[in-house]
Amino acid sequence: MSVQIGPISTSLSRYLAENSYSHVAILVDEYTNKHCLPLINSLLPAKFTKILIKSGEDHKTLQTCERIWDAMTKANIDRHGLLINLGGGVIGDMGGFCASTYKRGIDFIQIPTTLLAQVDASVGGKLGIDFQSFKNHIGVFQLPKTVLIDPNFIHTLPERQKLSGYAEIIKHCLIRDEEKWSEISHQGFDDINLADLISHSVEIKKAVVEEDPKEAGLRKILNFGHTLGHAVETYLLNLGKRRILHGEAIAVGMIMEAYLAYSRNLISRQELESIEIYLFETYGRVKLSMDEIPAIIKLTAQDKKNKGNEIRFSLLTGIGDCGYDIPVSASEMKKAIAYYIG
Ligand SMILES: NC(=O)c1ccc[n+]([C@@H]2O[C@H](COP(=O)([O-])OP(=O)(O)OC[C@H]3O[C@@H](n4cnc5c(N)ncnc54)[C@H](O)[C@@H]3O)[C@@H](O)[C@H]2O)c1
Ligand SMILES: [Zn+2]
Repeated sequence: MSVQIGPISTSLSRYLAENSYSHVAILVDEYTNKHCLPLINSLLPAKFTKILIKSGEDHKTLQTCERIWDAMTKANIDRHGLLINLGGGVIGDMGGFCASTYKRGIDFIQIPTTLLAQVDASVGGKLGIDFQSFKNHIGVFQLPKTVLIDPNFIHTLPERQKLSGYAEIIKHCLIRDEEKWSEISHQGFDDINLADLISHSVEIKKAVVEEDPKEAGLRKILNFGHTLGHAVETYLLNLGKRRILHGEAIAVGMIMEAYLAYSRNLISRQELESIEIYLFETYGRVKLSMDEIPAIIKLTAQDKKNKGNEIRFSLLTGIGDCGYDIPVSASEMKKAIAYYIG
């Protein structure tokens, strides 16, 4: 898996010089068109095709894919073309999916421009779109030719989006690196060295994915915080007016699932408290009420890690270690959500 971290002017120029393409297309949304494309415009071939789509998860749909395929077809892109995905996880997942299926697959590269996409979505080859109300329901595993990460893109990202991506960095430390966790857990978000943490997170994600590309086992540890986190995310999304960002939901899920680990004696009370204090300090507490618990639990049934009727979790087995395929009952989940609500 090729991932390069450093100035985009160097990495992209080198990639385009070393590879010859009949046509280069670039996928952007209105924000990456405004903030990110100007940083690479001069590195692109004189004639390239820009495909502009509307930003946001609401547009990660089959209809948008049709527009992308239509634009590629109108531009006469053949099988020797390249698609550059310049944007956050939505652009990367959907652009990668469109490239992998267009004429049975053309080359694509990821240039992630959000923190979440740099430390998580762009690495690992999971591509796809949402379908009906199900997230990432239709998709494929396909690695990009390369991932070019430049931490400089993050400067124009709104603070809330940065914090959302930071949740995945915290997750990587909790499941794989106790030392790094103790380092960051004593620092506020404003004090951290982001460029260093991006490399650290990418290394962890890459190592895990390389060991288990298709999520047969180990890769499931990357889902720590995601079973209940996704359920809360989807629950609030369906309600409409209380929507939260993915990373914010994962911060909620990590507290709930740390409690599950504690209740099974997998982590100590002090470890639970250190996680909880840091996450509440960084993200605050999302308002949920006790009577919303059943609806949240119901949504865990859609989780892709489940087998049959069992809801399976990835739970910390100490800080810096994580187990997977751990069945958890509805009554245990109820206690964990209630613990979060406080
Ligand atoms: N494939 C995977 O393994 C994987 C992993 C995690 C998440 N994801 C997916 O990633 C998506 C979320 O990604 P995201 O959080 O990056 O959201 P996103 O792609 O919606 O980007 C968030 C917002 O930031 C804007 N933006 C992007 N870069 C910017 C920049 N440099 N400056 C200013 N604005 C910028 C975007 O236009 C968008 O409005 C979800 O669809 C999720 O399913 C995929
Ligand atoms: Zn995530």
